[in-house]
Amino acid sequence: MTAKTWGGRFANTTDARVEAFTESISVDRRLYRQDIRASQAHARMLADVGLLTSEEAAQIVAALDAIADEIERGTFVFSPQLEDIHTHIERALIDRLGDVARKLHTGRSRNDQVVTDLKLWVREAIDELDGQLHALQAALLTSAERHRDLVLPAYTHWQRAQPVLAAHYFLAYVEKYQRDRDRLADCRRRVNVLPLGAAALAGTSLPIDRERVRIQLGFDSLAANSLDVSGDRDFALEFVFALSVIALHLAGWAEEWIIWATTEFGFLDLPEAFCTGSSIMPHKKNPDVLELIRGKAARVAADLQRLLMLLKGLPLTYNRDLQEDKEAVFDAFDTVAASVQLATALIPQTRFRREAIASRLEEGFLDATTLMEFLVARGIPMRSAHEAVGKLVRLSEQRRCRLAELPAEVYESIRPGLGSEVYHVLGVDNALRAFRSVGSTAPAEVDKQLAGWRDRLRLSAAAP
Ligand code: ARG
Repeated sequence: MTAKTWGGRFANTTDARVEAFTESISVDRRLYRQDIRASQAHARMLADVGLLTSEEAAQIVAALDAIADEIERGTFVFSPQLEDIHTHIERALIDRLGDVARKLHTGRSRNDQVVTDLKLWVREAIDELDGQLHALQAALLTSAERHRDLVLPAYTHWQRAQPVLAAHYFLAYVEKYQRDRDRLADCRRRVNVLPLGAAALAGTSLPIDRERVRIQLGFDSLAANSLDVSGDRDFALEFVFALSVIALHLAGWAEEWIIWATTEFGFLDLPEAFCTGSSIMPHKKNPDVLELIRGKAARVAADLQRLLMLLKGLPLTYNRDLQEDKEAVFDAFDTVAASVQLATALIPQTRFRREAIASRLEEGFLDATTLMEFLVARGIPMRSAHEAVGKLVRLSEQRRCRLAELPAEVYESIRPGLGSEVYHVLGVDNALRAFRSVGSTAPAEVDKQLAGWRDRLRLSAAAP
């Protein structure tokens, strides 16, 4: 049996089933770098305030580096009897340094230690994900520029609504991922408050200097209330919520492209490297990556739910329930990071079938709303114009023609004079050119946005 760090008050050994049930090393070993970094900062601080000699601190810092190496090389031995990553590292340190290492946990508790480690981990994860989202935005922007002149039907209820430039479509997702990045940055502000120094829950009577730890670990400020700290997982909740929103954005897009890649739509040709075949149907090229991006969003939403349930009804301060938080955080991050990276790789390799899209663009009355606005601009009350165009659509359906193919007399009967002007606004290209409002799909507006995003994302000029 390995001696427990907390074994002093126990006369009997722990039941092996309890050790198996309570261990978290299988999950929290991922925190080893953060744990070592925080312990090194803590040791240096202990030396600064005279609780360790500087030689002792130097020995501890060096031995922790050696332990990190061992873990990285895969030679470190993990055992469920040692509970978690914090005890593992402390035990390995004691095995190397003896009594000196037994001083490391001075003025500290696993309660403030574990939340410090997790905050360091989440902070890194946020920074990494921010870079990945930026790369995704860059891929979307490049596609927007490449498809600047392609016109797409846009939908509500999966029914054809109005025409948009493909660039406008891609930029819609650039906006969404920008909000996601902003949300992560906002969450990071609350992540970056140092818990270490709260000790178990009330602080410590020892003369620790939290500010020195804060500076070494790059936190913005000190958590102000020791009681608040060890049970606070708001930051984890916010992080996983931000991840859930990203997962939803990805899943909505994946759904669109799955449908656009069908024979029925025929808008897209997905790259073979991102598709799989069928074991029985020789012709199949299935969009499994997109389906899994859509499907895995369920995991992320479930991770959020798991954290919400975990935190419900917990009293101040640390409760062992909190150990269950990490798996949800890690899983949500892993899932979203993988999905973002796959999306970023898939997008530039996908080909839009321009002719197929164009050949059916005049179907579905994409110009009807613009026609209505044309009537409004000529003084017809909006509701009357709506009704009149609705009737024209019905007439077109009966005659199996487009609005642009109705004869001039039909338009003259709405208002004399219309018959000669109206054809300038009918048809998808004319309808698209008629847009003008800020934020609309008007070509000039879209060009402004394209240039604006190139700037905002700090990307070098687009290839001509
Ligand atoms: N493995 C524990 C966790 O992840 C570490 C904290 C244990 N603290 C305690 N008082 N038992 O939450």
